[in-house]
Amino acid sequence: MSRREQFLDAMGLMPEWLPRQHGAVLEVPEALQVPESTAGVVERAAIGAEANVAAARDTRTASVTAPGTGHPGSFDEGMPLQQPARRPHGGDHAQSNARALEIATLDWEPLARHVADCQACQLCERRTNTVFGVGDQQAEWMFIGEGPGEQEDLQGEPFVGQSGKLLDNMLRALGMSRQRNVYIANIVKCRPPRNRDPEPEEAALCEPYLQRQIALLRPRLIVVLGKVAAHRLLRTDAPVSRLRGQVHDYEGIPVVVTYHPSYLLRSPNEKAKAWDDLCFARALHERSGPSAGRA
Ligand code: URA
Repeated sequence: MSRREQFLDAMGLMPEWLPRQHGAVLEVPEALQVPESTAGVVERAAIGAEANVAAARDTRTASVTAPGTGHPGSFDEGMPLQQPARRPHGGDHAQSNARALEIATLDWEPLARHVADCQACQLCERRTNTVFGVGDQQAEWMFIGEGPGEQEDLQGEPFVGQSGKLLDNMLRALGMSRQRNVYIANIVKCRPPRNRDPEPEEAALCEPYLQRQIALLRPRLIVVLGKVAAHRLLRTDAPVSRLRGQVHDYEGIPVVVTYHPSYLLRSPNEKAKAWDDLCFARALHERSGPSAGRA
């Protein structure tokens, strides 16, 4: 069995994950051909709380193309942090800034409590639980989704519904699990009604939490799941189909974009592409240096 077949087998979804065209899937060794000139993006940058807060004011994102993917390279000025037009719960700008500065100083436990008590936007009114994040706080890999769905709202943990089962299978295929070397979080910590996309205002008010989670975790790699998370994190409106296959940058951390598991459940033919993305991410992680004894 080839290495790739072993991955697929481990995932227990081998027939569904087979590429539709032979050769369409990047084998891991070829997946990473990041030129030396761009290798800096795979090195982890120190991210302090201050830098993180500063990033809230002036976020730049960069992306480099993985050769062979056919995507042109680009370096974009990120949009400045979108300030919500109105804040039913969030107060004025000064209050919002003070809140973001405070959040940027919190350690994991007070941060989780802050989230649990959060009433910054209207999403707090209908939630059952806040959904802070789950996983290994020493993880080198971070997966970022959009926001809690029904099951996540009920259980207070990200990705525990159907799409979570698929995500767990994807992790297993990489030899990882949500308990080991992976941390999973969302753009928003409360469920949007009827699973609608979070409003920009809601995402902006929730953003200091994710920024702080990233700063505390300092992952070596971020995998962004789906359009909503990609747009928010990378300050772009490009479709996922154009964002995947490239190494993006979030504050010095390499970012790989792939399809959201719920999209993959609706469009199983796209699973092969998601598998390509995970192979690409894995190769990038390997390239970024020796693991501290982790996957
Ligand atoms: N979809 C997400 O983006 N996040 C979850 O936690 C669950 C479903």
